[in-house]
Amino acid sequence: MATLSTPTFSTSRHQIAGLSVAELAKQYGTPLYVYDLRLIEQRIADLSAFDVIRYAQKACGNIAILDRMRKHNVVVDAVSCGEIQRALAAGYSPQGHEIVYTADIFDAAALDLIVQHKLHVNCGSPDMISQLGERLPGADVTLRINPGFGHGHSQKTNTGGQQSKHGIWHTQIDDCLRRADQHGVTVTGLHMHIGSGTDLEHLSEVCEAMERVAMEVGRTVTTISAGGGLPVPYSESETYVDLDKYFQLWDATRNRVSESFGHPVTLEIEPGRYLSAESGFLIAEVRSVKKVGDNLFVLLDAGFNDLARPVMYGAQHPISVCAADGAAVDDRETVEAVIGGPLCESGDIFTQREGGFVHSRELPMCRVGDYVILENAGAYGFVMASNYNSKTRAAEVLIEQGQAKLIRKRETFDDLIRNEIIPE
Ligand code: LLP
Repeated sequence: MATLSTPTFSTSRHQIAGLSVAELAKQYGTPLYVYDLRLIEQRIADLSAFDVIRYAQKACGNIAILDRMRKHNVVVDAVSCGEIQRALAAGYSPQGHEIVYTADIFDAAALDLIVQHKLHVNCGSPDMISQLGERLPGADVTLRINPGFGHGHSQKTNTGGQQSKHGIWHTQIDDCLRRADQHGVTVTGLHMHIGSGTDLEHLSEVCEAMERVAMEVGRTVTTISAGGGLPVPYSESETYVDLDKYFQLWDATRNRVSESFGHPVTLEIEPGRYLSAESGFLIAEVRSVKKVGDNLFVLLDAGFNDLARPVMYGAQHPISVCAADGAAVDDRETVEAVIGGPLCESGDIFTQREGGFVHSRELPMCRVGDYVILENAGAYGFVMASNYNSKTRAAEVLIEQGQAKLIRKRETFDDLIRNEIIPE
């Protein structure tokens, strides 16, 4: 596997996957999510050393994206009834572990669907083993283990340690095996996902914990999953992880487990962000450029209703500008600008830091009618969009082989009020 160096982010962009940003905006309107399929394909190829690549569809679940993942032999993770239904709608089979449900609870709808299709479940709480066992005695399950520590790009994305609600606490394996025995359930695999945006430092500890738990569960284990969490750089101060090292550590763990048990053990990886983040671009139009005291605000028609990561985590996305007429803006003077959206809320700022502090970014001077592109928006972008302020959710477009294809229509006012009722 190749180890990638951090890309340089340009603040001037007039094309996405060879197509004009301005033309895309004119044809489909703004705000607009655009995905470059080629970038997803490259990221899939990067991970080819793993036996199984399981896409965490929560990162970007449009069924067209899932369909293309499926055509590249990427299987899928589902965290809810809706995500199971998405996977089925995109053509995934309920058999052969193509869809695995990973969660810390079953709601009634998810459990019914799982029972109906006999889907494989990765249990994040001991109660799930009993609840599944009652409905599907004799089922195989995997266990999502919380090894007692975790790491994430933000405290909100750290999924290990005792502050996290995720996973089965590493000292409760015995209880889980007892519950499994009661219902003839077999633990066929183990899974650890300690956080989103993790690094190599913690990986050897995770691998050791995985091995320890595997020995405790015993020879029924035939799969281990490294979970997701592979970071992508959002700025030039961030890096990718060394994928070779990452794989080697997991592969060595798998080999030791396999040797102890005397049978092959499959190694899975479960990325969301790594596969889809860099493929996604959110195109917005500049609607106002105004001075407020010392700050220059550039206000867009996209807000945190379209991309929530900055307001939720203080996440910084690469930002670029395209002229209204579609030209590049490399020759414009640069200014310190605060980039914000249309919402009636002060937190609607894309250039903020964790804690909500407004920051500026050095960008080419923007004019009303220009386009601003929020980059690396393909993971946890559209999927976290909302209708706050009665904004309709953006359209989504996939570019493949040089062609733009609409994969989700822009919402309409009728969509907004569809389920609302004025009682007599
Ligand atoms: N597997 C499990 C069990 C997970 O909980 C997650 C993410 C993944 C895989 C995929 O993680 P990834 O490879 O994408 O880091 N909304 C946040 C990220 C939340 C991640 C939740 N779980 C963000 O925008 O950064």
